[in-house]
Amino acid sequence: MCGIVGYVGAMDGRDILIEGLKRLEYRGYDSSGIAMVGDSGTVEIVRSRGKIAVLEGRLRERPIAGSIGIAHTRWATHGKPSDENAHPHRSGPFVVVHNGIIENYAEIKSRLQLEGFGFSSETDTEVIVKLVEREWRSGKDHKQAIVDSLRQLRGSYAVVFLNEAAPDQLIAARKESPLILGLGENEYYLASDVPAILPYTRKIIYLEDGDVVSVSRSGYSIESFEGERLERVPRTIEWNPIMAEKAGYKHFMLKEIHEQSQAIIDTFRSAVDLNRGEIRLDDLNLDGKGVAGIRKICLIACGTSYHACMVGKYMIENMCRIPVEVDLGSEFRYRGPLLGQDTLLVVISQSGETADTRAALQEGLEKGAVCRAIVNVVGSSLVRMAGGVIYTHAGPEIGVASTKAFTAQLVALYLFGLYFAVASGRLDRQELSAYIQELIELPRKVSDILARSEELSGLARRFMNCRDFLYLGRGILYPIALEGALKLKEISYIHAEGYAAGEMKHGPIALIDEQMPVVVLMQKGPLFEKMLSNVQEVKARGGQVIALVEGKADERIGPPENRFLIPESSPWLAPVLFTVPLQLLAYQIAVLRGTDVDQPRNLAKSVTVE
Ligand code: F6R
Repeated sequence: MCGIVGYVGAMDGRDILIEGLKRLEYRGYDSSGIAMVGDSGTVEIVRSRGKIAVLEGRLRERPIAGSIGIAHTRWATHGKPSDENAHPHRSGPFVVVHNGIIENYAEIKSRLQLEGFGFSSETDTEVIVKLVEREWRSGKDHKQAIVDSLRQLRGSYAVVFLNEAAPDQLIAARKESPLILGLGENEYYLASDVPAILPYTRKIIYLEDGDVVSVSRSGYSIESFEGERLERVPRTIEWNPIMAEKAGYKHFMLKEIHEQSQAIIDTFRSAVDLNRGEIRLDDLNLDGKGVAGIRKICLIACGTSYHACMVGKYMIENMCRIPVEVDLGSEFRYRGPLLGQDTLLVVISQSGETADTRAALQEGLEKGAVCRAIVNVVGSSLVRMAGGVIYTHAGPEIGVASTKAFTAQLVALYLFGLYFAVASGRLDRQELSAYIQELIELPRKVSDILARSEELSGLARRFMNCRDFLYLGRGILYPIALEGALKLKEISYIHAEGYAAGEMKHGPIALIDEQMPVVVLMQKGPLFEKMLSNVQEVKARGGQVIALVEGKADERIGPPENRFLIPESSPWLAPVLFTVPLQLLAYQIAVLRGTDVDQPRNLAKSVTVE
């Protein structure tokens, strides 16, 4: 996720661009930059690491102005947050801002380097603008050079180009990253999202994949890559600016729950090479030889990320047949863990800053373990400490309760399991391709569940006033029972406990009475009948069963209004699908109870103290 804004019109666009960036800061905030065509016709660029306030400070020292320009707020995907990696990026007369991920940037970069192109950043974006310059130098006009460059990219992008050689025009295009065109009176706006431009216009065109837009003061045109003229109907936006920032959702948490299909795609997109049928984890820095030396894996995290570790143990032990230990960051260093050079220690964190997780990683480094991280924030402390990383490309998560970062962690662990299994000779090509296929189908299944959110609202209304909840799961869904309970506690303040279902009769069964809703997670396969026994035990004691059931409805479970069906998937990806309705149920209950969903009491997004 990044935010981009473009402006062409009669006014000085600087403030429009900067204010637009501020309203997109929720899309990323590790660095920002602006490029404008000044009076002399030259493009001036000011960029800075840090929040937009830092960029504003730089602009006070080095003011720029103009009536055409582009700007960007960054959420790093390739290359740490730094001045050099901040957008816009330039090559020859071309300047670009980009939101998305270019999968084949490394290949293109090496090719361009062999041809003599130099690079000044670590970003995937710089290859786009270098390619454009190269195509233009071969004699094409600048629009054709842009289109022919975009054709060479694999991945996702929304891009806006300025060109010093044609300084009256912006050219923009999109593929799988959002981009809108705002229509004013002889002025036009481009942006990643509506809030950026809402103070200036409510007339918006939502651009579609493959659209190429040319915008100048005298008008705009939209064409396909083949140069065919396209008509897109403008829509009038009714949202107020606050609603717009949340894309019309009532809370960031709900928006982030709905972003999960995209977060999953973005997370596997950078690792799955569909052409070759391979998993590539370039930033992990662990090759076949490294894998061969590993005898044990330790997964360590806190809170929700710890639940991801627990799921990871089931996945990795099964795929790779290697022992996996799971620890809480706050416990790990105090238990005198046995670590050595044959231990692979992987810390998992959304923020990359959690103090206990950092301390666990430090312990691993001191004891000579091979240390890696799965992190959502590029350039964060854990990334700097670990010898390699897998990024979850969930984009910034604003809601304090983690949702999309968690499911992206599950996907990253799945990718890691497959990578390790292939590297250690446990998985052949054919098996890998079946696993990859399951992953490709996952976002659609998540979207199917999200489209059925309303089915949970009756449950939320019926159970919103309960004092306690019990969540039960077995096998790989046991950690998801813990996660479901944690989500409910965090945002609704209802007491909830997650249990391994087999443990119910060893204690928590004493709690069950007519007041107690029991959420059961029923995965198809060998544990289904065992979960069914739990359901009977709960019902026999008057408890109320809320069942999430994979596959078809089973009449033995309970009344249909207490059931939610989960699409079938591979056992290793089922945790993602079971998580989504649990997030929605917790969310809906919290909203009914009127709590502060995005900022629940006493909690902080990033816990940087022990
Ligand atoms: C719960 C939640 C927390 C975090 C925990 C670790 O919704 O978000 O439990 O998972 O504080 O944070 P990270 O993942 O940033 O290390």
